[in-house]
Amino acid sequence: MKDIITLGIESSCDETSVAVVKNGREVLSNVINSQINIHEKFGGVVPEIASRNHVEAISAVTKKALKDAGISFENIDNIACTYGPGLVGALLVGVSYAKALSYALNKPLTGTNHIEGHIAANYITHKDLKPPFICLIISGGHTHLVHIKDYDKFEILGKTRDDAIGEAFDKVARVIGLGYPGGPKVDKLAKEGKANIELPKTHVDGLDFSFSGVKTAIINMHHKNPDINKADLCASFEKYVTEILVNNAVKASKKLGINTIALAGGVSANSYIRENFIKLEKQGYKIYYPEPILCTDNAAMIASAGYYRFISGVTSELTLNAVPNLKIDNVTILD
Ligand SMILES: Nc1ncnc2c1ncn2[C@@H]1O[C@H](COP(=O)(O)OP(=O)(O)OP(=O)(O)O)[C@@H](O)[C@H]1O
Ligand SMILES: [Mg+2]
Repeated sequence: MKDIITLGIESSCDETSVAVVKNGREVLSNVINSQINIHEKFGGVVPEIASRNHVEAISAVTKKALKDAGISFENIDNIACTYGPGLVGALLVGVSYAKALSYALNKPLTGTNHIEGHIAANYITHKDLKPPFICLIISGGHTHLVHIKDYDKFEILGKTRDDAIGEAFDKVARVIGLGYPGGPKVDKLAKEGKANIELPKTHVDGLDFSFSGVKTAIINMHHKNPDINKADLCASFEKYVTEILVNNAVKASKKLGINTIALAGGVSANSYIRENFIKLEKQGYKIYYPEPILCTDNAAMIASAGYYRFISGVTSELTLNAVPNLKIDNVTILD
């Protein structure tokens, strides 16, 4: 069978990324231009600044991705771009650029869901992973427990009722003075602490999640006692959220009779969360997570998800638009 080369384009938040991926799983290049340094001084992503920086970066990032992969535009079979969810101005840069390339090169365009991209990051790291499996998407904007029925068929089993887990990590880090983005900083500091601070439990029915209660409790504790041990606070927060994640994933696994669990999204880079999921392997579970560079936003994962859409016959018209609140279970008819 002829190889299929996908050019992936990602611009949903503060990373401008372009990648070249062969047959959905082999990364030939993955260039990520992060704007973290620019947004750091504001304590979070400023949408208008993000859009402007995407415009400035996207051509150079694309050229580098082609050069690193050793290919030219003619070798591309499909152009996959993130069209949602994300910041509308940021998404529009990648979508417009992908549409222009598709038109100029006369190559198919495949609008791709960013969250399907996070899931697909696992296909790149683990060549043996195939649906069905359960995926726990833990990122800056999402906390979703999803049954991956097939490469293009998803069922949401549970999701957060308030804050996404990454948001909670970032907020806790900001309040205790660790800076942005907080997740990796909490991860590091927690290793020096003990999980000895009791945090109030929030009861949520079924397979849903809730993180705003624990976030508020930590903010209040720190305000009342600014000298509280920050490392212990980070360790206690990580233990608290990890127990909820593991419990719900195991519950979903038992309900569906599926013992393969994959983690995805930026928070799946967290070392404590990984360690605790790996412990489930002793009980017969198969645990997967992407290599760290593929956990946070990148275009290789978009190329992989776009490849699976493309081979199932889904392509987009040049009328494709950004959909900031795109849902994973939306069946979006693109052609
Ligand atoms: N080691 C880590 N531990 C905990 N959180 C982490 C770690 N590394 C990154 N994160 C968190 O991951 C989040 C970023 O992940 P990602 O790029 O997947 O989110 P996003 O693209 O902003 O949101 P979404 O994908 O839901 O639209 C941030 O909240 C960041 O703090
Ligand atoms: Mg993301």
